[in-house]
Amino acid sequence: MQTERLPPTLEGLARAARLLADGRTVAMPTETVYGLAGDARNGLAVARIFEAKGRPAFNPLIVHLPDLDSARRIAVFDPEAEALAMAFWPGALTLVLPLRAESGIAPLVSAGLPTVAVRVPAHPAAQALLRRFGGPLAAPSANASGRISPTSADHVLDPEGGLSGRIAAVLDAGPCPVGVESTIIGWPGGQATLLRPGGIPAEAIEAALGRRLARHEPDPGGPSAPGQLASHYAPKATLRLNAATPRQGETHITFGQPGRFSLSEHGDLTEAAANLFEMLRRADREGKPIAVAPIPEHGLGTAINDRLRRAAAPRP
Ligand code: TXA
Ligand code: MG
Repeated sequence: MQTERLPPTLEGLARAARLLADGRTVAMPTETVYGLAGDARNGLAVARIFEAKGRPAFNPLIVHLPDLDSARRIAVFDPEAEALAMAFWPGALTLVLPLRAESGIAPLVSAGLPTVAVRVPAHPAAQALLRRFGGPLAAPSANASGRISPTSADHVLDPEGGLSGRIAAVLDAGPCPVGVESTIIGWPGGQATLLRPGGIPAEAIEAALGRRLARHEPDPGGPSAPGQLASHYAPKATLRLNAATPRQGETHITFGQPGRFSLSEHGDLTEAAANLFEMLRRADREGKPIAVAPIPEHGLGTAINDRLRRAAAPRP
């Protein structure tokens, strides 16, 4: 299959929507990372997502919707979920909520769980595609399973480890402004819980809720644990974290200082998040072990450190 690269014009959007309506997969830009979209009501389209990614089928997908009203038709919102949706949608927040029986969502999307992850993305091209398509889009990050998430159409089509030839099209709207995946909140024990740190800092969510979030205790055997596989977002090179200075033969990814592989010269965590996955790819192309400077553990730094720990974890 030849993967089409489509511009975010009326024609490009119409073509992408048409492919999705035919049950094909299309990589779409969001403010966080590129997602590999398929019609969430069509089990065959969802299966094609798993097939293209080579993803373990027990990992449930996020359903993308154009607005809160559409999300309410699929999931049950309690007052806390309503408050978070009002405060942060459209945006880099995913909510794991009870799935409605009459949602029409293919069971494969939520891997058979009684819950579903929903998100209203803010990116204008994602919004335009959702409205043009007129239905819910299931979309995990548009990378092969276990590889670094794509923050540009070039990453999606990367001849090495990308999805070129495995998906129908990519809607190319340039680089993603946030650069790390959405923050995931769920209520597994009845309490609002941070399931994955991401593009919206946990502190901002706690401020909107007026209380602290519970932290997720990884459940080693459970398919519902979004802590997922320990190794994730993995470059080919080994990764050494909290490395203020590089050892001989290492490529050094820096923070708060200039350099060839600087995440942010001025120590800006938002800029560092936007650069993270591109910098990991670039450093990986040097073909040497990678050392990463310490990143402060607050704001978007929490999401950056989470991705770095997964990238550094032992490979399966
Ligand atoms: O920013 C993002 O969230 C991107 C863009 C494309 O929206 N998407 C993304 O999807 O990161 P993915 O599939 O790579 O990660 C989805 C995460 C997984 O860790 C999965 O375990 C969790 O969401 N998840 C989905 N449904 C869930 C559910 N019902 N219960 C618990 N976790 C769930
Ligand atoms: Mg992913």
